[in-house]
Amino acid sequence: FYILHMNLKTYVKDVPDFPKEGIIFKDICPLLASSKATNYAIDQLAKGLHEINVTKIVGIESRGFLLGLALAQKMGVGFVPIRKPGKLPGAIIKETYALEYGEDTIEIQENAIQEGDQVVVHDDILATGGTAAAACKLIEQCGGTVVQCNFLLELGFLDGRAKLEDYALHSLMHY
Ligand code: PRP
Ligand code: MG
Repeated sequence: FYILHMNLKTYVKDVPDFPKEGIIFKDICPLLASSKATNYAIDQLAKGLHEINVTKIVGIESRGFLLGLALAQKMGVGFVPIRKPGKLPGAIIKETYALEYGEDTIEIQENAIQEGDQVVVHDDILATGGTAAAACKLIEQCGGTVVQCNFLLELGFLDGRAKLEDYALHSLMHY
């Protein structure tokens, strides 16, 4: 049967002071633990994508892998991982981006995206937007076009949208 509407927020648990004091962590494990909620989330993430000519789904290590692959399967297209440094073999391209304190780097296999690819970037959470913006740059360096950035949930107060203003955005939950 077809589920008309679910409130996915009831499957996200607020964990105060994790991983550091003052931070309220959004735990998506209850959602993943429910087959019904996960299924619904994948359906909702895919909504609107059938009208675009999507050729690849990119998921960002590690939580972006969880529903990224499921979404790729749902769309009938291939999945490409973006990984933390030193994990991918062969020719890679890397992008370094600023964090609140320090910096981070992510990598993609150079040949995983080809010229003309229409790519959806998926991650679980949009926070400051640094990770997703770096992912978009990697895809563009490979010759791909980012047709949408797609998240389970978005922390609006961190204004990650500002870093992704060149892209279409789709988030299932807003905080
Ligand atoms: C979290 C989250 C996103 C990213 C969002 O990942 O899963 O990938 O941070 O942050 P940003 O919008 O400020 O860049 P994290 O680095 O905690 O790693 P994980 O996915 O491996 O748990
Ligand atoms: Mg992550």
